[in-house]
Amino acid sequence: MSDDVRKFRDALGNFATGVTIITTMSDDGEPIGLTANSFSSVSLDPPLVLFCLGRESYSFGHFENSEHFVINILGADQQEQSNHFARPSTDKWNDITYDVCDNGCPAFRNALAIFECAKHDVHDAGDHIIIVGRVESFEHKGEGDPLLYYRGRYAQIAQIAEDG
Ligand SMILES: Cc1cc2nc3c(=O)[nH]c(=O)nc-3n(C[C@H](O)[C@H](O)[C@H](O)COP(=O)(O)O)c2cc1C
Repeated sequence: MSDDVRKFRDALGNFATGVTIITTMSDDGEPIGLTANSFSSVSLDPPLVLFCLGRESYSFGHFENSEHFVINILGADQQEQSNHFARPSTDKWNDITYDVCDNGCPAFRNALAIFECAKHDVHDAGDHIIIVGRVESFEHKGEGDPLLYYRGRYAQIAQIAEDG
């Protein structure tokens, strides 16, 4: 990575995010997933969300081919799971417990929230693609702290402001 790219990445890291694991199912029924913090809400009506997927990732072809995916929003106690799914590996799913959603994709029921999506649109974006999903169904716990990512490290919420 060049110095310029590293500096750019370091500057971007000042934007604190949550952490997700985004999953899909391959054509031959292999679960696929990766850790991503590029998740964003897009539209309320229709309900749209997006994430950015690196072209170099193993998952790339599978998400390109798949018409459905699930966004799992991680809680503060899921840092280990986040690290696990941030590794480029073809056998990430050994010993991993998951449910299969109505849309056929894996979901982690211990996540803070789960969004079942149908692929709505895909945009070219440099070394990533932007995948826009239409949310077909969702659930959330309504409690529990999120896992955060800030300046290249995990972080935890110390305090939630009560006034807006
Ligand atoms: C906190 C965090 C956030 C990440 N966000 C993204 C992201 O938004 N998009 C992406 O393509 N990779 C992201 N990555 C990197 C992928 O998780 C990593 O490249 C992973 O190995 C991809 O898995 P795969 O090669 O099996 O597809 C992130 C990694 C971490 C630790």
